[in-house]
Amino acid sequence: MMLPDQQLETTYPEHLKTLQRRYDEALELAGFSSIAVGSGIGRNWFLDDHGPPYKADPHFVQWVPLLQHPGSCVLYNRGRQPVLIVYQPDDYWHESPPLPEGGWLDAFDLRVIASPGALMDHMPDHHDQLVLLGDTDQWPTMLQAAHQNPRDILNYLHYYQAIKTEYEVHCIRAATARTVTAHRAAEQAFRTGASEYEILLCFLAAGKSTESELPYHAIIATNEHAATLHYQGRQRESTQCHSLLIDAACSWNGYASDVTRSWTAKDSEFTAMIGDLDNVQQSICAAVKPGLPFADLHSQAHAMIAELLQRWDLVTLDTATLLDEKVTDVFFPHGLGHFLGLMVHDAGGSISDIHGTAIAKPDRYPNLRLTRTLEAGNVLTIEPGVYFIDTLLSGLRQSSLSDRVNWKKIERLKKFGGIRIEDNLLVSPSGSENLTRHAFDTGDREQARSPEASSPRL
Ligand code: GLY
Ligand code: MN
Ligand code: MN
Repeated sequence: MMLPDQQLETTYPEHLKTLQRRYDEALELAGFSSIAVGSGIGRNWFLDDHGPPYKADPHFVQWVPLLQHPGSCVLYNRGRQPVLIVYQPDDYWHESPPLPEGGWLDAFDLRVIASPGALMDHMPDHHDQLVLLGDTDQWPTMLQAAHQNPRDILNYLHYYQAIKTEYEVHCIRAATARTVTAHRAAEQAFRTGASEYEILLCFLAAGKSTESELPYHAIIATNEHAATLHYQGRQRESTQCHSLLIDAACSWNGYASDVTRSWTAKDSEFTAMIGDLDNVQQSICAAVKPGLPFADLHSQAHAMIAELLQRWDLVTLDTATLLDEKVTDVFFPHGLGHFLGLMVHDAGGSISDIHGTAIAKPDRYPNLRLTRTLEAGNVLTIEPGVYFIDTLLSGLRQSSLSDRVNWKKIERLKKFGGIRIEDNLLVSPSGSENLTRHAFDTGDREQARSPEASSPRL
């Protein structure tokens, strides 16, 4: 709803032009004349009059920074001024979404409706020329003749969604700055003995966010909980704490950040291992540049993690065996990264063109999410990890390689759960910019200037 600073205000008009160009071409290629991009609707749980928090559809958010306007839409007729239809119910139970305001609205023909059915009054007459994008339940049944979420339109939009406009990069930067402030508060809370639940509260307060405004379920994993990749618990009581893996982030104008840090309560061999993985992560980040197939980077990450497993004396196997026998996968069982933007796992990561041609997954890594060749304007995460996951370790223990594994050391390290270091990078014409490290460095400089301005605590 608010464009946060002047840079965003000045980049938004160009963003809108780019979006209009993309939609013009997508509609023309698919043979349609207009498209309604829905904001989605709120829903209740089964047999209940309450439901999960509403989340705006990302295609809608790309057009307009409106995150709390269910039942609304952008109607775009090819080559014409976009129409913003805002649903403002007359409801004395809930606060009505405010009427949007600000200079950015000048680009739209703004219309307000008081009932969902009134959408019909604004739709073009020829529904066979109309595309409906988003949650199909939003659209009145009278629109049945329209084309809902056609694949060729989605393929086109998702292919280009991977190339961020300047406005989008600013939003992700702003989300990252907010995330870094929240991460600092969370680390401080961890160091004073807070529980997972209390760390979450500190994160939210410092990030000026509610939990439902976060781009994904925050992972706040102490000790062995870090071995569960998407750990969703919120332990209420403080226990003896060895480590914290925190994978949590904030949003800005509906754009996501996605940051992970790993900490130990006191210096130990595991602290040194975190430092080693951080070095590996930084050298992978340094290799990010246009023209690089992401699958190659993922393979290189496996080779570097093989070296770490050897250096840490967890295995006595050569690199080729560690890779060929998929031993590295036991310790690093997820992808090196993914596109980031309107969604935390953003669209377009595995198609090679506007027609949605799928990029074949590498034989060695059939589950890799991001397989595209990088280009300037991509925003992606780099997030190598090493974990001690019982279910994966048990397979290795039963294999013929078991006697080459240092089980004693692994048992000793299990109480730390695992390590992940995750940054967000913008691919530039000549390499990349690490948005996360930049935000941490800027925060360091600001804190050095005014040490009392530390993050808020609960
Ligand atoms: N936070 C989820 C992920 O890192 O992909
Ligand atoms: Mn991620
Ligand atoms: Mn993450």
